[in-house]
Amino acid sequence: MIERIDELLVEVEQFSSSAKEEIEQFRIKFNGKKGVLNDIFEKFKEVPNDQKKDFGQKINSLKQAVAAKLENLKNTSEGQSDIIKDDLTKPAFPLELGTRHPINLVKNRIIEIFRSIGFAIADGPEIEDDWHNFTALNLPEYHPARDMQDTFFIDTNPDTLLRTHTSSVQVRYMEENQPPIRILSPGRVFRNEAISSRSHCIFHQIEGLYIDENVSFADLKQTIQYFTTELFGKSKIRMRPSYFPFTEPSAEVDVYWGLNSETDYRITKGTGWLEIMGCGMVDPAVLKNVNIDADKYSGFAFGMGIERIVMLLYQMSDIRMFFENDVRMLNQFKSL
Ligand code: PHE
Repeated sequence: MIERIDELLVEVEQFSSSAKEEIEQFRIKFNGKKGVLNDIFEKFKEVPNDQKKDFGQKINSLKQAVAAKLENLKNTSEGQSDIIKDDLTKPAFPLELGTRHPINLVKNRIIEIFRSIGFAIADGPEIEDDWHNFTALNLPEYHPARDMQDTFFIDTNPDTLLRTHTSSVQVRYMEENQPPIRILSPGRVFRNEAISSRSHCIFHQIEGLYIDENVSFADLKQTIQYFTTELFGKSKIRMRPSYFPFTEPSAEVDVYWGLNSETDYRITKGTGWLEIMGCGMVDPAVLKNVNIDADKYSGFAFGMGIERIVMLLYQMSDIRMFFENDVRMLNQFKSL
């Protein structure tokens, strides 16, 4: 009996066909009601008890071999017959369209808004030297304001670092260009901060710089008001005095978000106001550092964190989501 099963195993092993009918015959021969397997199982009853174990194992391996063979043949024959059945003139599978990352969606929107009032894009490196990130921006060595931006250093002497803000691009641009200057610089920035739902060691900023003759604080306020109206549909803003080494006077800009819903209460901590950016009139010391005549020219700068704005616009509660790239989150931005 065992020998017969061994022969059958070889037969199964060697069987091969791509013709549907032959495969079906093979299936009936082994798996059919009156097939080989059932027949052997029937005989199993008559096997003496002390041989049942060996015999049982043999039958099982035959059963598995048949199942594996059938599965194998099914895969190959299905593939082949589908090609023949299919209409070959049908268009190919559509390539699924990806989505833009929400950071890019909002970044592009902000660029669009400022482009419409004459701002051009300027770019700069993410790995910076001390001069462009700090010193030229009126932050001399050992100035305590450097502590405001915890820095990742790559090298010392001379200091090389990951830029802590996009303000470094202002310096690079002003070194190369004379006023009038109207630029916007979006980009990644890095700070040595603990990662939490509200802060990350990598984030994105967008910086604006406008230098010309007779640029005033009123121009700054008007520009920002135009921006908040375009982006949020909200024109009520307030400017709170603040401090940045490279602007004087400096301000934080708050947008009046309203107190219409529970969410409004939560995100504005019950005040209705939301802080969206820092800004100010470019300090004449910065203009001097880049050889622009500070008596003739003046200007303003502003900088904002893109993540914060995206979180406001789409009511997202955790900044870490932007860097995890979970497609379930990203796919929600498909239609935008
Ligand atoms: N660079 C500042 C920051 O990262 C923001 C800023 C930019 C403030 C331009 C004023 C003017 O905090």
